[in-house]
Amino acid sequence: MKKILGIFLCAGMIMSLAACGGGAKTGTAQEGVLVMATNAEFPPYEYHEGNAIVGIDAEVAAAIADKMGCTLEIEDIAFDSIIPEVSSSKADMGMAGMTVTEDRKQNVDFSVTYATARQVVIVPEGSDIASLDDLEGKTIGVQQGTTGDIYASDDYGDENVERYAKGMEAVQALTQGKIDAVIIDNEPARVFVSENEGLIILDEAYADEEYAIAVRKGNTALLEQINAALNELKADGTLDAIVAKYISAE
Ligand code: ARG
Repeated sequence: MKKILGIFLCAGMIMSLAACGGGAKTGTAQEGVLVMATNAEFPPYEYHEGNAIVGIDAEVAAAIADKMGCTLEIEDIAFDSIIPEVSSSKADMGMAGMTVTEDRKQNVDFSVTYATARQVVIVPEGSDIASLDDLEGKTIGVQQGTTGDIYASDDYGDENVERYAKGMEAVQALTQGKIDAVIIDNEPARVFVSENEGLIILDEAYADEEYAIAVRKGNTALLEQINAALNELKADGTLDAIVAKYISAE
């Protein structure tokens, strides 16, 4: 019975174009609304500007919602709550500069990728940490649940990793001398370093990654629409234009 209902609604969805959220169709939120779960502590991808959440992801998500004929609703939650929120259908998609990893693929499905990124190391100017090897035995700050957290814990030992709710809090701890380094994505790193005196980014990158949008596992109807929209936004230059608005060429 469920299956028949699913097929029926999917067909209706294609015709109506209003395919977002929508109860039984995608098993999510409200009809006509695309709910995006994010963690808006990650400039230039998502951050607060006054009462608004702005950034590359926010704008790309709005463009996707627009193509789907939906209204975008952004939910700002802890980074490590995004995947649970999506898999329990409380949000339609997770978009948060989220790196595609094999582990995460066990719990959610990912769209086509829309950005490449790197994990980098931030240290104070004059630090004795000049390379990744020098991180051995040092205290490393990360945002809880991010790939920076996962990789640093694996490579340098759980006991050497300090986890913060926000990347910015890790950077603040670094400027206060409470920790020795911060591992975080390259673009937020550039923003945080520009906003805080006395910090530098090591030339040696820690890991290369790709960002994509997460949807509930098996929600192919929604995934296909997100992919179609993303591919269009890539092809017509909209994605590049949004990125250029937030990231100046290096
Ligand atoms: N790319 C990293 C990851 O997926 C960090 C993402 C953090 N995003 C955020 N909005 N706080 O784990």
